[in-house]
Amino acid sequence: MSGNRVEIFDTTLRDGEQVPGCKLDTQNKLIIAERLDELGVDVLEAGFPISSPGDFKSVEAISKLVKNARVCGLTRAVKKDIEVAAQALKPAKRARIHTGIGTSDSHIKYKFKATQDEILERAIAAVSYAKTFVEDIEFYAEDAGRTDNVFLARVCEAVIKAGATVLNIPDTTGYCLPEEYGAKIKFLKENVKGIDKATLSCHCHNDLGLATANSIAGAINGARQIECTINGIGERAGNTSLEEVVMIMRQHPGLNLYTNINTKLLYDTSRLVSDKMGMPVQPNKAIVGANAFAHSSGIHQDGVIKNRETYEIMDPHDVGVNESAIVLTARSGRAALAYRAKNIGYELDKLQLDKVYEEFLLFADRQKEINDEDIPKIIKASGI
Ligand code: KIV
Ligand code: ZN
Repeated sequence: MSGNRVEIFDTTLRDGEQVPGCKLDTQNKLIIAERLDELGVDVLEAGFPISSPGDFKSVEAISKLVKNARVCGLTRAVKKDIEVAAQALKPAKRARIHTGIGTSDSHIKYKFKATQDEILERAIAAVSYAKTFVEDIEFYAEDAGRTDNVFLARVCEAVIKAGATVLNIPDTTGYCLPEEYGAKIKFLKENVKGIDKATLSCHCHNDLGLATANSIAGAINGARQIECTINGIGERAGNTSLEEVVMIMRQHPGLNLYTNINTKLLYDTSRLVSDKMGMPVQPNKAIVGANAFAHSSGIHQDGVIKNRETYEIMDPHDVGVNESAIVLTARSGRAALAYRAKNIGYELDKLQLDKVYEEFLLFADRQKEINDEDIPKIIKASGI
């Protein structure tokens, strides 16, 4: 495959699981982890081992189970966190410790009551210590979205020197605009000494609905890892949605970016996560929503029946959806009615269709949606 490979770092089981009420037990986490590995994620963030004995157990069990992806555990820039994460990740074939600290003025002043220099020292110490356990260290500069770029570059340079292999640039509060986030990545690419030794990673939250756009802007400007969750679940308005970034890169070959994801598993994976977490997927959710490939207005239906590409920019099969749906409502036209009737064995000529369509509209005004079982009743009522 030509082009630039963007690694997919899935954090459904860590940042995604921070959704209130969506706590998963180890058994369900293992089922999801196995599916994510099959899906082809490059890195699987399994949890925050020091946060609870249950999370430790889950990270350890996932580390034993996962065959292909690197398994990652989150820590604060705290020695004990790092030791516990290293312990939980021990059985992993390929382990990564994800450590970091807040770098924005507001985090430094209010959360840490510290100075920039003290934060820098703590960042270096955390990475150096983590490096004594595993080779692969990802450093996150929390609230990087609101961190001054010059200070951020200083932090990045220092942690690369200390051994960081990946630099996570989180827009923790979902504040950045795509142009601004892309420019931040570009600035780091151009101003951090040693940047070629590390991978820049996008980690965007969706507070203003910009997580996907920001992650893509980051990749366009040189980031080679995107952190995301299935269905975009996560704290507050959620994280970048895995299925969205993957399909944007696939459907826009001009970007020259590609991933290792088996897109045919996207729909089923979305449903699995939704079921296990008890988090319904909104019907109009891009890629995996129930209506993502459903057409209900007459003009669109006529176009799709003639050629799917008139109103669809993706083949539903590519994301694991069986086919586009032609939904019958009072806004549907004759073409849709004829199409659905034919699918269940009724071939209607033009005159018959006119009569049945009149009856159909009466039905459809009374009922939100017309199902296959209603069609024979409508045909009978039309008297043909
Ligand atoms: O949003 C964020 O900043 C995070 C970090 C802990 C990586 O989730
Ligand atoms: Zn986050």
